Amino acid sequence: MTLENILSETDDGICTITVNRPDKLNALNKKTIAEIGLAVKHAEKDNSVNVIILTGAGNKAFVAGADISEFANYNLEEAKALSKHGHDVFNSIENCKKPVIAAINGFALGGGCELAMSCHLRIASDNAKFGQPEAKLGLTPGYAGTQRLPRLIGRSKATELLLTADMISAAEALQLGLVNYVVKQEELMGKCLEIASKIKLQAPVAVAEIISCINTYYSGKDGFAEEINAFGRCFTTEDFKEGTTAFLEKRKANFKGK
Ligand code: COA
Repeated sequence: MTLENILSETDDGICTITVNRPDKLNALNKKTIAEIGLAVKHAEKDNSVNVIILTGAGNKAFVAGADISEFANYNLEEAKALSKHGHDVFNSIENCKKPVIAAINGFALGGGCELAMSCHLRIASDNAKFGQPEAKLGLTPGYAGTQRLPRLIGRSKATELLLTADMISAAEALQLGLVNYVVKQEELMGKCLEIASKIKLQAPVAVAEIISCINTYYSGKDGFAEEINAFGRCFTTEDFKEGTTAFLEKRKANFKGK
């Protein structure tokens, strides 16, 4: 698959997707958003992939937001279509059956923060900076920042960040629970690979079901009921048979993702 603004590489079950517009701090134009969606969908369908890592090219930015130069002259309908497209792609990341880890290697502002929040886990380098500066531009966030930020860090702090347009450090993001870990920049990919490698050992079907249960709750539906159904479904899978048999036989499980 050849994409203009995205690099994608799979090694030993881990697919690394890189937003590759470093001269624009990886700002998200429409094409880049569409290509992120394509790359994630492709990795989700690829049987050789267990975990996806999403990052930005260079050492300055993960993604510095939506591409402001592209939408400056949009009208109402064009703006709504742009937002809807971003919502659709970011929802597809959140609902991806394979875990997506954001490796946040610098600025994660506006659409960049929203992109990171649509991932299942977030690991930041110590130079990363986070914020939703849209109000400064006369905008609301357009890729679900008003929805995912309060869910991740709570209503009070999210409201403050959204209304003040403040930028916060990686250390503050960690304290707020916006990211899982902060590491030195040179250790960022290593930390992501360490976590991805642990996830890779688990049953893929169970991993997908866990993601779905969590998402069900946060989408306002009955996550408790979904967990009962998901638990039941696991009992019909080869992975469950293999996982329990391997435990009883005191050996490592060899999951097939079925
Ligand atoms: N959209 C379009 N272009 C962007 C961009 C964005 N969101 N963020 C950065 N760029 C471009 C700059 O225009 C510049 O391009 P140029 O070299 O052709 O002029 C290039 O990326 C480098 O950015 P620059 O501003 O020179 O870097 P900096 O280190 O001085 O500042 C930031 C870094 C992130 C603080 C600054 O780029 C910024 O505030 N970006 C916008 C953040 C934002 O508001 N995002 C939300 C958008 S809804």
